[in-house]
Amino acid sequence: MSNINLAIIYYSSTGTNYKLAKWAEAGGQEAGATVKVLKVPELAPRSAIDANPAWKAHAEATGDIPEVTLDDLEWADAIIFSVPTRFGNMPAQMKQFLDTTGGLWFKGKLANKVVSAMSSAQNSHGGQEATILSIYTTMYHWGAIVAAPGYTDQVIFSAGGNPYGTSVSVDQDGNMVEEVEAAVKYQAKRTVTVAEWVKKANQ
Ligand SMILES: Cc1cc2nc3c(=O)[nH]c(=O)nc-3n(C[C@H](O)[C@H](O)[C@H](O)COP(=O)(O)O)c2cc1C
Repeated sequence: MSNINLAIIYYSSTGTNYKLAKWAEAGGQEAGATVKVLKVPELAPRSAIDANPAWKAHAEATGDIPEVTLDDLEWADAIIFSVPTRFGNMPAQMKQFLDTTGGLWFKGKLANKVVSAMSSAQNSHGGQEATILSIYTTMYHWGAIVAAPGYTDQVIFSAGGNPYGTSVSVDQDGNMVEEVEAAVKYQAKRTVTVAEWVKKANQ
């Protein structure tokens, strides 16, 4: 049993990043962490969601997933983010949430959190790496410790070889193209392991 609290914070319109988050939850639990899966608040107008059947269905199916709060960030020793790309950047929903963390940052409460990130895009080179890096930019300002997977395990190669964090592309029907479940679980375990090292060193 690990003594690590892991928050998996995601945004998803059509379910891909929700699925990545759930795989990360399983990986974190296998590593012995206490895990919370949390979504960031939606900002899109109801009319936009209702106009897209896949978005509407996913929003309804995940209505019971709790929205992340600043208390969750304080609680977490480790955090995994998962977001779809929006023109090579994180979605506004995630950025808006991160922009509410100034008070915690000012009090030094975000320093030494161990973090990593995952992403998806329609195309195989549609901006996944840039999107993950956009999250890491904020993490460097937090003073967080980025535990990117690098090429530390064979599963990363079979998932497409993104060393920044697991990423996937989705076809026209919203199905994932690459097999990334094992890489997501590995990334979650590695994030928990690095958090254990950091926590132990600070005790
Ligand atoms: C406003 C917007 C911008 C997007 N930009 C890109 C892009 O630049 N490249 C790309 O491959 N896919 C792009 N996509 C597709 C999404 O990344 C894709 O639908 C998403 O990864 C699916 O994740 P989800 O099911 O968790 O919502 C964009 C989608 C939207 C709505």
